[in-house]
Amino acid sequence: MLIDTYGRVATDLRVSLTDRCNLRCTYCMPEEGLQWLAKPDLLTDDEIVRLVDIAVRLLGIEEVRFTGGEPLLRPGLVGIIERVTALAPRPQTSLTTNGIGLKRTAAALKAAGLDRVNVSLDTLRPDVFKTLTRRDRHKDVIEGLEAAHAAGLTPVKINSVLMPGLNEDEAPDLLAWAIEYGYEQRFIEQMPLDAQHGWKREGMVTAGDILASLRTRFDLTPEGADERGSAPAERWLVDGGPHRVGVIASVTRPFCAACDRTRLTADGQIRTCLFATEETDLRGALRSGASDEEIARIWKLAMWGKKAGAGLDDPSFVQPDRPMSAIGG
Ligand code: 5AD
Ligand code: SF4
Repeated sequence: MLIDTYGRVATDLRVSLTDRCNLRCTYCMPEEGLQWLAKPDLLTDDEIVRLVDIAVRLLGIEEVRFTGGEPLLRPGLVGIIERVTALAPRPQTSLTTNGIGLKRTAAALKAAGLDRVNVSLDTLRPDVFKTLTRRDRHKDVIEGLEAAHAAGLTPVKINSVLMPGLNEDEAPDLLAWAIEYGYEQRFIEQMPLDAQHGWKREGMVTAGDILASLRTRFDLTPEGADERGSAPAERWLVDGGPHRVGVIASVTRPFCAACDRTRLTADGQIRTCLFATEETDLRGALRSGASDEEIARIWKLAMWGKKAGAGLDDPSFVQPDRPMSAIGG
């Protein structure tokens, strides 16, 4: 088991498959992109599958989420999913994507055994999309969502980040739209993970703001604290149900005490938290011939060092060096 000194157990592994992306969301990357990881530093497909095998067989991981950057940009993605879903015990699998290219790949991903997808979509307005992501690809995302739904990668979840002055008024529209098309809408508070270090606590759109905005159009009833479990999203029933909306209040209502995650970066580093300032190198161990048991031991030790919380609202908070795109969402 992966357990830490606070008694938390990690059962959810997030695997970043690449740090590259074809969008440039302002809350994530600068216009010019970033210095991408060099190919030799990236884990190979075989190395990823081996680490996931160790995680499910020896460390109690039950759920594997593939992230990026943009994971659809990883050439071997379908093959990796095929091999991961063939592992025993078979983990649940999901993919967090910006949806570009999903139209083309949704059916193949489903056939490879992928269970579901989370698609990032912050706005229903193509012009706002272009301002937010610096790319004119709104239509591709909408088509990607439709394809994922049609392929049965369900429930298809939409992740939206609201930015002051850009799309902060769109929460009710996004929720109404998601309900109409059968997607599960979730809002995520903007976190200090942008490469430019431009995040400001003042002015950010909080979970409180989002709920107040949603309540201008919908009746929301909390799903109950018991059901949140370790899921970061607090969920509300919309107009009595069955539709739901989730809000991930990483800044104003952090869920660190119930965290069940461990993360693997595309270059083979274990991170016990999105906001960790330390990493543990697994790639070096892999490439110097370590056994499965030795790798499991290194991973367990890393988990044992997991900090109590990120303390985003604390004045002493220090933003990690790696941006979101190089950690995985
Ligand atoms: N704060 C909150 N969410 C973010 N994402 C990317 N950067 C940030 C940030 N700074 C979101 C993406 C995607 C998921 C992986 O994380 O929009 O939905
Ligand atoms: Fe790409 Fe996601 Fe970052 Fe946007 S938030 S630039 S889609 S990695």
